[in-house]
Amino acid sequence: MSDARRDMRILFVCLGNICRSPLAEAIARDYTEKKGLNIKVDSAGTGDWHIGEPPCGHSQAVAKLHGLDISSYKGRQVCTSDFDEFDIVVGLDSKNIANLKSMGCEKVQLLGDFGLSGEDVPDPYFFPGFEGFEKVFSMIEKCTINLIERIKA
Ligand code: 4NP
Repeated sequence: MSDARRDMRILFVCLGNICRSPLAEAIARDYTEKKGLNIKVDSAGTGDWHIGEPPCGHSQAVAKLHGLDISSYKGRQVCTSDFDEFDIVVGLDSKNIANLKSMGCEKVQLLGDFGLSGEDVPDPYFFPGFEGFEKVFSMIEKCTINLIERIKA
């Protein structure tokens, strides 16, 4: 039996689940807690390379600079049961969206549609330094908050 009273659930998905989607998860969790919203959040990757690993050092560092601790997060791979479990599945870039659709997910949204005019949040994994992670954090923060405000409304 479906439970209409259960909390809304959002899953953020990138490729490795060690750079971008853990930041989206942390930002969303922090924002919903501060606003007292009944929204559950999680993140996952379409790839399997980093299952069980903590977020990359630069993501942990940029999160910490913004008062968020993601050091205990563990990478996991998205699976088809997530598409039943979550109400909205949010891809960080258009390749993630294509991968999710090819897995049969019909509730995908592009994060960049909530404040970046449909732009992808770039994959920072191969960025040479820390600077790009600040840019990525700002992009994710803006869109994640807009998404939650849209859901709320
Ligand atoms: P993410 O970044 O999708 O933002 O977590 C990446 C992490 C790892 C890899 C690619 C992107 N990788 O190829 O291992």
